[in-house]
Amino acid sequence: MRQCHVSSADLIQPLFVREGEGVKEPIEAMPGQYRLSIDELVKMCRKVYQARIPAVLLFGISETRDANGSASWAEDGIVPRAVRAVKKEIPDLAVMTDVCLCGYTDHGHCGVILDGRVDNDATIELLARQAVNHARAGADIVAPSDMMDGRVAAIRSALDEADLTDTVIMSYAAKFASAFYGPFRHAADSAPAFGDRYQYQLDPANAREALREIELDIAEGADIVMVKPALAYLDLISEARKRFDVPLAAYNVSGEYAMIKAAAQQGWLDESAAVTEMLTAIKRAGADMILSYFSLQYVV
Ligand code: PBG
Repeated sequence: MRQCHVSSADLIQPLFVREGEGVKEPIEAMPGQYRLSIDELVKMCRKVYQARIPAVLLFGISETRDANGSASWAEDGIVPRAVRAVKKEIPDLAVMTDVCLCGYTDHGHCGVILDGRVDNDATIELLARQAVNHARAGADIVAPSDMMDGRVAAIRSALDEADLTDTVIMSYAAKFASAFYGPFRHAADSAPAFGDRYQYQLDPANAREALREIELDIAEGADIVMVKPALAYLDLISEARKRFDVPLAAYNVSGEYAMIKAAAQQGWLDESAAVTEMLTAIKRAGADMILSYFSLQYVV
């Protein structure tokens, strides 16, 4: 009589990739997660595939950073090399790539800076270049997480012009300026050097604005839309599921992972029961797919 059950097919495993060989560097703020060199990433992806989790989401940790994030559209950048390696070894595993500038800029913002503010329109052209670069390397799905206005349309037309018409766009459509990204920024070394992300990410108080953002992204050509974070925004997952007829993703973010890990390490809650309850709640709210650092652990 249970009405909702999370299985491996609902899950996506986010993974961090860095330079080097044989490197599996633990991420302090996210116990059990690692910065992986490409060879180690391939091994991890094999485990994900064997666990019948259909997809991974790759975050590149770039060693080269500048004002414009130019390493993000380099053909031999960390992400394209990682994508090629994974698709060569495990062609049936879907590979999603994060498209954003914050891991490639020296100031840590998700776009280029003009007079102390992010320049929206200059940024979307660079994001489109990055998305084409990832798709050319073999990424099945590109996932823009920058929250610039108009970037889904720009990415779609750039992909189509490059004959990459089958590449899917999963847009971080309703992404809030959340404190729950803290551990991720530690992992990817992508905290903004000044200010915050309120210029481009959503105010956590604004539900109606979030729904409008989702609607706009669908109109611009997003194939999958996402609500992020998940736990504090279950109302939006539920509302988006009712209103929109496209696949809906929810991102169970780094802070949601770290909270449970930290409490469990203290012996303050039952980790496995808490993870099951949390993922079930996200699916019950209406998510078709869940991006979670717990994915592999939940299944194995
Ligand atoms: C990059 C990006 C972030 C996350 C995914 N892509 C961080 C941010 O916006 O600051 C957060 C993921 C997580 O916390 O698990 N823009």
